[in-house]
Amino acid sequence: MSDSNTPYELKNIHLPSNAVWHKCTVSPQERAQLLGQVPRCIWLTGLSGSGKSTIANALDATLHEAGIKSFLLDGDNVRHGLNKDLGMTETDRAENIRRIGEVAKLMVDAGLIVICAFISPYKRDRQMVRSMFHHGQFVEAYLETPLSVCEERDPKGLYKKARAGVIKQFTGISDPYETPENAEIVIDTSRDSVTDSVKRILQVLSQ
Ligand code: ADX
Repeated sequence: MSDSNTPYELKNIHLPSNAVWHKCTVSPQERAQLLGQVPRCIWLTGLSGSGKSTIANALDATLHEAGIKSFLLDGDNVRHGLNKDLGMTETDRAENIRRIGEVAKLMVDAGLIVICAFISPYKRDRQMVRSMFHHGQFVEAYLETPLSVCEERDPKGLYKKARAGVIKQFTGISDPYETPENAEIVIDTSRDSVTDSVKRILQVLSQ
């Protein structure tokens, strides 16, 4: 059995309790082999309304139709369950992203292609998630759709509320979004079609 499933916690973070890691008999490599695919985490980051959920769903559906085992984790949905105790402060957003990273890592270890759609506005948090994965397992796609376009779309009416001051700390309006500098993929949904965007992600995945 391979020992490459050594947890990153043992290297990066001290354990908070007396818990001792129990190595699984079946390795992540063996699980992936059984599913016949290369597991990855595709991380979509960008402003609210930039097209993350649309691209994520189209990618998920395309993979599913091709018989590839994938799963989608989406900000609004995860905040209804696992992370319903978290708000939108910088600290809560960091915890939101940390938990999602942990869940995504478990899913990648189970052999899945995990698609994550989160604003994830802070570089530090995105970098933290990236560091959980082996080199090449984490693929960052930056949705660089301009704020003016996102605001024009305003699919949930949140920008309007943010401009009116009803929603505080709204990303892009009254809270920061730190632009990724080294994303593997950059998409602007005001220019690129959903089909083309999915194709580009698939190209990177097939490399
Ligand atoms: S993140 O910043 O922690 O990554 P996440 O992706 O989980 O955010 O959730 C973003 C979703 O929460 C948005 O799509 C929007 O519907 C909703 N939302 C509610 N309040 C805010 C806010 N202050 N800023 C941004 N999005 C918000």
